[in-house]
Amino acid sequence: MSLTSEKPRGDSRPKVTIETIQEKKQRREPITCLTAYDYASARLVDEAGVDMVLVGDSLAMVMLGYENTLPVTMEEMLHHTRAARRGVKRALLIADMPYASFHISKKEAVRNAARFVKEAGAEAVKVEGGEKRVELVKRLLDAEIPVMGHIGLTPQSIHAMGGYKVQGKTLAAVEQLMRDAVALDRAGVFSLVLEGIPREVAAMITAEVAAPTIGIGAGPECDGQVLVLHDILNLTFAPPAKFVRRYADVAGAIAKAAREFKEDVEGGRYPAEEESYHLPKETQAALEQIAVRKRAMAR
Ligand code: KIV
Repeated sequence: MSLTSEKPRGDSRPKVTIETIQEKKQRREPITCLTAYDYASARLVDEAGVDMVLVGDSLAMVMLGYENTLPVTMEEMLHHTRAARRGVKRALLIADMPYASFHISKKEAVRNAARFVKEAGAEAVKVEGGEKRVELVKRLLDAEIPVMGHIGLTPQSIHAMGGYKVQGKTLAAVEQLMRDAVALDRAGVFSLVLEGIPREVAAMITAEVAAPTIGIGAGPECDGQVLVLHDILNLTFAPPAKFVRRYADVAGAIAKAAREFKEDVEGGRYPAEEESYHLPKETQAALEQIAVRKRAMAR
């Protein structure tokens, strides 16, 4: 084995590892995570200094146009994780285990998680579900694969939950969420996504578990926050959820650029002289001589 520098190429900041994320919780420094699913967006998110890039199964909806996250396949997730891998140098790259990639057998689940690491360069995987994932988390850790847990509003449970609904509103539901969080923490997840739960419940979980909590619609007391990139850019074609803050209007920018391109081409304004290539003078002169000769022969 050779030990190489921890600094990513062309970046003076140290590589983010699972230890970096855990130390941030201890130092009470907010942890940042955004989704990204392709080379360009992953590179931009990484270069912005975000700690973790998640290739979320939300790509089913925002990249592939599926109605929910259930149809996305391992092959599709691998394809996007590879693309994101090429863009990310510093952030921790996490791949989301898609629906049915870890539900059928533990053996198949470990094989699928290992594919994310081996074939796509992921440094960790995320698995939806609470207490019932404890054995799986242990098997993945045995295979040297760090695991991010995900509880609360877990979109892969859309049918079981009867839709996308804020979770943890009754005492029994709060107790279950706390059991889920503690069980995953004890099993060894390196961080835990809390999605769509009351901030008071997220605060209790955050105080209780050693793993950093990463909230999405779970209030400000979490150790970090994650959002879907397309949500913050307005690229989702739907009104945003309450917790989404829009930082840019990329849909507006793309629509305007496409409209202006069409108008310029149709109006003869594109391409302009300075956007065109030209023949070298000698070739132009030779062509003109040929044309003159042809005209003379035709007379
Ligand atoms: O798929 C996803 O993007 C996610 C995050 C929102 C946590 O699971």
